[in-house]
Amino acid sequence: MKNSGGTETQKRRAGESAAAVVEDGDVVGLGTGSTAAAAIRELGRRVDAGLDVRGVPTSRGARRLARKAGIPLTTLAASTPDVAIDGADQVADGDLVKGGGAAHTREKVVDAAADRFVVVVDAAKPAPALDHPIPVEALADAVPVVERRVEALDGEPTLRAAERKDGPVVTDDGNPVLDCDFGVVREPETLAAALAEIPGVVGHGLFVDLADEVHVGTDDGVEVR
Ligand code: A5P
Repeated sequence: MKNSGGTETQKRRAGESAAAVVEDGDVVGLGTGSTAAAAIRELGRRVDAGLDVRGVPTSRGARRLARKAGIPLTTLAASTPDVAIDGADQVADGDLVKGGGAAHTREKVVDAAADRFVVVVDAAKPAPALDHPIPVEALADAVPVVERRVEALDGEPTLRAAERKDGPVVTDDGNPVLDCDFGVVREPETLAAALAEIPGVVGHGLFVDLADEVHVGTDDGVEVR
């Protein structure tokens, strides 16, 4: 289930601040989650006012929201995003844990492809170190193998259960997600590489050295880090 904790006002401020960096003619990666949604809605308002942009959604949810907001869409096959705007579940030293909405694999593809990756979070997300469980999307048949490999890395995997549906959550690509608790992640780069090389892992939510800037919505305004 998604982590929250920050306020709607903080999320809206972060989203609007990030949407303001988008320029006429840009292709924009459209993130998933409640804070990215605030950016999508603000971009939609700017499109209404005449801004010419095209969006690359990171999930079915983001696509639906973008259509509702009136943002024309394109694909990674047709365009490279100038900027991507996306949320995070935790931020420390510019590294992120993402995937509270199980969209992290598609998000990483779009966010990493963008020339500039702008992260939008509320004030509850920055932390001194990453200790949020890391979502790992895996092929269904590989789950037992992935669980054992995560345990061998001193992680504790939990298959994410769906709400209002029996059984596991499945991603937009039909795969289950393991939330893997590693405690405090001392070496994010090493862990990211170790998770990525497990056979059957489709993608994980540790985003190391990808963010260019972080817009933190606070009760007083926005801090850009
Ligand atoms: C989606 O899978 C996630 O990576 C979200 O971007 C992340 O969970 C942040 O979501 P909120 O902005 O709703 O907290």
